[in-house]
Amino acid sequence: MQRDDMIKQQIIKIKKEKSIFIIAHYYQRTEVQEIADFIGDSYAMALAAKKAKEEKILVAGVDFMAETAAILCPEKTVLSPEPMATCPMADSVDIDEIKKYREENPETLIVSYVNTPASVKAVSDVCVTSSNAEKIASKLPPNRPILFIPDKNLADFIEKKIGRNMEKYPSFCPVHARVKTESIRFCKEKYPQAEVLVHPECAPEVVKMADYTGSTGGILNYATHSPKKSFIIGTEEGIFYALRQKRPDAEFILAVDELICPNMKSITLEKILYSLENEETVIKVPEDIREKAFNALDKMIRLSQ
Ligand code: 13P
Ligand code: SF4
Repeated sequence: MQRDDMIKQQIIKIKKEKSIFIIAHYYQRTEVQEIADFIGDSYAMALAAKKAKEEKILVAGVDFMAETAAILCPEKTVLSPEPMATCPMADSVDIDEIKKYREENPETLIVSYVNTPASVKAVSDVCVTSSNAEKIASKLPPNRPILFIPDKNLADFIEKKIGRNMEKYPSFCPVHARVKTESIRFCKEKYPQAEVLVHPECAPEVVKMADYTGSTGGILNYATHSPKKSFIIGTEEGIFYALRQKRPDAEFILAVDELICPNMKSITLEKILYSLENEETVIKVPEDIREKAFNALDKMIRLSQ
């Protein structure tokens, strides 16, 4: 038996014995997705954490995903197999700057992407993910200015969808920034029949070239129902696992070679096994911050319906 298979067997045994529910993101390693009880985009992961009947959850994703589960489910134990797996875009936000902005601009609605630390969510009016941002932004009061934190590309995508300008925090995802117009053009020339599916974290000029732009869950859903058999994918390559399961008949082409989020990939089977055995690392958010961040996340869930 291969080493990975042995670890997988141990993980499956121990998660059952201890009744720990494993939630993984689509960007996780294939072997991690294989042992997960639930795989989803960041919004689906948050809902799955809330709905889980188990009292203990392990989140295989970057830190803001585990933190989101801990904020929404204070009664549950939320484990992270690798708390050092961070999102550089989420970490780019200067919380002091946002607090100062909040004080100086009480009229402005602060809309935070879920890719933010809990402290930023706590000073936000509402959170969004890439799967619900358009819906939520379209429901915000029209007479209030909006500051969108931190992804300027997602903000641009929403602005165009809802026809409303927003002030943008000047950050972006370094992984999706690697998808360039030249790479899409090159792929389209090589695969003229293929549809181009990208994440809204890609630059606006890339989004403009796409047939569909949406969250990881949205991309998966689109490819599942499209009559086409060939797709150029502008998001992290971990999604190929789910894409190939849904469309075994289709061909998927990554828009750029090795489009990998190293933080997502820092979670391994070994780390998950250790986390399950030792029930470490428990993710806790200080209660004063958690309560305020909960309000912004709860509003996201209500406005998504
Ligand atoms: P999704 O919400 O589409 O899963 O995106 C999360 C993310 O971090 C994309 O880089
Ligand atoms: Fe953050 Fe980009 Fe990695 Fe998503 S892909 S977790 S936005 S660095």
